[in-house]
Amino acid sequence: CGIVGYIGFREAWPIVLKGLKRLEYRGYDSAGIAVMNGEKQNIYKKAGKVSVLEDYAKAFDCSGNIGMGHTRWATHGQPSDRNSHPHTSNNGQLSIIHNGIIENYATLKEELVQRGHVFSSDTDTEVLIHLIEEIQLMEGTDLLESVRLALNEVAGAYAIVIMDKASPDRLIVARKGSPLVIGVGSGEYFVASDATPIIEYTKNVIYLNDNEIAVLTKEELFIKRLDNVVQTPQIQELNMKLEMLEKGGFDHFMLKEIFEQPRSILDCMRGRIYPELGQVQLGGIKAFADKLKNIDRIIIVACGTSWHAGLVGEYLIEEYARIPVEVEYASEFRYRNPIITEKDVVIAISQSGETADTMAAIEMAKEKGATIFGICNVAGASIPRLTHAGVYTHAGPEIGVASTKAFTAQVTVLTLMAFYMAQQRGTISDVKMRELLTELETVPDKVQSALASNELVKYIAGEIKDASNCLFLGRGSGFPVALEGALKLKEISYIHAEGYPAAEMKHGPIALIDEQMPVVFIATNNSSYEKVISNIQEVKARKGIVIAIVTEGDKKVKNMVDYSIEIPDTDEAFLPLLATIPLQLLSYHIAVMRGCNVDQPRNLAKSVTVE
Ligand code: G6P
Repeated sequence: CGIVGYIGFREAWPIVLKGLKRLEYRGYDSAGIAVMNGEKQNIYKKAGKVSVLEDYAKAFDCSGNIGMGHTRWATHGQPSDRNSHPHTSNNGQLSIIHNGIIENYATLKEELVQRGHVFSSDTDTEVLIHLIEEIQLMEGTDLLESVRLALNEVAGAYAIVIMDKASPDRLIVARKGSPLVIGVGSGEYFVASDATPIIEYTKNVIYLNDNEIAVLTKEELFIKRLDNVVQTPQIQELNMKLEMLEKGGFDHFMLKEIFEQPRSILDCMRGRIYPELGQVQLGGIKAFADKLKNIDRIIIVACGTSWHAGLVGEYLIEEYARIPVEVEYASEFRYRNPIITEKDVVIAISQSGETADTMAAIEMAKEKGATIFGICNVAGASIPRLTHAGVYTHAGPEIGVASTKAFTAQVTVLTLMAFYMAQQRGTISDVKMRELLTELETVPDKVQSALASNELVKYIAGEIKDASNCLFLGRGSGFPVALEGALKLKEISYIHAEGYPAAEMKHGPIALIDEQMPVVFIATNNSSYEKVISNIQEVKARKGIVIAIVTEGDKKVKNMVDYSIEIPDTDEAFLPLLATIPLQLLSYHIAVMRGCNVDQPRNLAKSVTVE
């Protein structure tokens, strides 16, 4: 979910509304805004996108200099007007917006119902605001103290904003486990789940820490911890530009982000590779350079697309640094009793830096003594703050819900990490390192050339857009590329797609192949080329429609398949960075042709801050 708040001298409604649109990628099944004008408060909420709310509220009074809004990704209770935030207390005095989950809400709700509270939604959030009200009434405490006491009773994760009709000059915000940024203006404050709604007004921000509550008035900000200790706010400067949040002439954010990859990969390598010296420098993990010499194992934890990047990382780290690597879904890892020792390094990969399961996995591994590295795209997010060290991907804000440039940036960082570790451990020769880095330096240009296949890919998309299933097959590091290709397609076009190691096809998926079935192969000219060719023949023998990603100049595969898409030749180490590009374009065009909402596919959210 995304939350926004404003207090200051301007009209709050347009600021909050625009902020919600910027945050819509975080969830978009319902939206709501509360504005306060003196003691008069108006709340409007609607199932559906922010634009539905916008149209609806046009007929009503939206005035006031204090406001807060919420865009939801449903967890408790289906998307509906009544389950949309803001939620209010029993007497309607207090209202709240919330991102996260109150885990003990059922017990709390039972007690509150016994005390006469009547609930008008199925949400955990409404329970929290009733609890605050109950404390206020029972203890006679002021708003801040009541919020503090209530938060001490809840288990779970939250970022909240609270308004009180009886204190119409303030907003109360708090966080634990869910992100919250405060923008500091002069005579005004902004609150949001991330900096995107704030950047056009101020570059000065405060990242609220877990277990902190802040009181915002027009002129002042006051922070204390849940244990009542007053905190000194730390103001930081954002280095994000407004253009990064706009579509810049492209029809969709996803397409813009696909086309940004030559630049984002370059930004990710900038200042980190020195081909002439045969060296990689990663300032973020430098302090652990010695530790890397003696580690027994690396465990990579992540979810979704980031997990696929992790699989690519496994190939690279094992190949070059000769350290055994395990790649785990964070959600599975955290609920097992995994064997972790102080000699392990855990690498947590997350675009948003907020994924709840990944955070929980980190906490568990940390407790068991492992060293934790993060690979994140969002500076200042929760994961970079939880880890011991890390490397940012520097891909810039990714707005399309289906991850594209963040994935290639993650793969780039993992490539750099693999080389860095190899360097520390002496598992790679200087000559080889120089050769690899010289080639890596050409990758952004080669990604640019791979993008030139756009028109061809669009044509192929038109030919297969009506399929109801699709297979993606690859070997070696082409396998995670296939997994990612399949995930992209299902995420945005709703075509059922599966990624498989090409050789495993004959142990199951081959049964699905008929003349209706498109099969996408990563068939570039590398160590598994000949093997993949046999797999292609197996599909052709069963009349499947084969689309192959091939190396520039390839003839052999081309003559065998229905459609082929060329990518430039490169070292096998960098193949995933190039082979991914046409697959992103393929999903994109298919989804557009099927009339799907590419940037905001149904049921998904960009950052999943709940488990
Ligand atoms: C969600 C997004 C995916 C993303 C995954 C992990 O499912 O829709 O695109 O890969 O979360 O997110 P993270 O921010 O941790 O990389």
